[in-house]
Amino acid sequence: MRIYFDHNATTPVDPAVAETVTRVLTGEFGNASSVHHFGQRAKALLDEARSAVAALLGAEASEIVFTSGGTESDNFALRGVAEAMEPTGRRHLIASSIEHEAVLNTLKALMRRGWRTTLLPVDASGIVHPDALAGAIADDTAIVSVMHANNEIGTIQPIAELARLAHARGALFHTDAVQSVGKIPVDVGALGVDLLSLSAHKFNGPKGAGALWIKRGARVTAILTGGKHERNRRAGTENVPAIAGLGVAARLAAAKLAAEAARVAALRNRLEEAILAAVPGTTINGAREPRVPNTTNISFDAVEAESLLIALDLEGVAVSTGSACSSGTLEPSHVLRAMGLPSPRTQNSIRLSLGAGNTEAEVDFLVSKLPGLVEKLRSLTRKSSVVSR
Ligand SMILES: Cc1ncc(COP(=O)(O)O)c(C=O)c1O
Repeated sequence: MRIYFDHNATTPVDPAVAETVTRVLTGEFGNASSVHHFGQRAKALLDEARSAVAALLGAEASEIVFTSGGTESDNFALRGVAEAMEPTGRRHLIASSIEHEAVLNTLKALMRRGWRTTLLPVDASGIVHPDALAGAIADDTAIVSVMHANNEIGTIQPIAELARLAHARGALFHTDAVQSVGKIPVDVGALGVDLLSLSAHKFNGPKGAGALWIKRGARVTAILTGGKHERNRRAGTENVPAIAGLGVAARLAAAKLAAEAARVAALRNRLEEAILAAVPGTTINGAREPRVPNTTNISFDAVEAESLLIALDLEGVAVSTGSACSSGTLEPSHVLRAMGLPSPRTQNSIRLSLGAGNTEAEVDFLVSKLPGLVEKLRSLTRKSSVVSR
């Protein structure tokens, strides 16, 4: 038996999405820029997908630019606005300290080109406070980027309030909604943002397809130059099969959003309560609300997260840790560190992210295994600390 509790990393492709991608890949090879019949069929597929993604976001189809996924959309938003705003004298960028690397490393690249950047702190529950933005924003801030939902702990940020503050100082506002689209309602009008990133593979679509929503009139320079694709905003022949798949995933997400969010939240809450009750020395990291319904991040005292991940994998259960293993040392999660968690807890945490297909039986299987695995790892740690003393 294999159980997948790592849906924030990626999700299985929905069968209806796979059917569409396969049909388009094998039967619709036209280039959407071609004037003839083959090209027009491909263009119709893109139009259909564009309408589906726009409907999911409460946006206009003409505001959707297809990209290769979340990373490109984040790069496009930050680099595109930075380049467009440079002539106005704005040279300052703001993001939260718990952004995905797609944002953080893009800021670093822009810093090397002379941009000033400010990373906003979060509180112990993983929320960015509007006061922090009010204190950091300057007259030359070009763009503020704060993610909608965090990939490691699932907390949802007060985007509408943050966007209002940015606009009051003439800055644009971008949100990386890669972890919220398809999980909770995302309406660009209600959020009040100017740019929003999404990625198909986080909501049962194919990898390598995503979109940047750009509010009509927002000044963004294209970062990929070449042909006139995507109304001059993103050059390169469109990946029609993957984009058609993104469109189907968007329609499916819209149709089942409310029911699936409630189902997954009930499973996640059952999992959390059972783990807290069955395993001593456990803590939930981050605010429990507002949070996306599928995510929990739990610290296990005196257990190295990587060892627990491997032990669970041997039992057939896939989870993840926020820490990255580089050159033999565990790099603690930048998200948990930004929340001010003490260093053992940043290294003892596991992320469980649920999704379509997960069942109560799977949750109960994990809960039946966990106490024994944790106890075994703790006793090994105790023994090794005795030996090394
Ligand atoms: C919050 C967030 N932003 C951006 C990305 C990058 O998206 P993609 O894998 O489509 O490049 C991810 C993926 O893990 C993510 O979780």
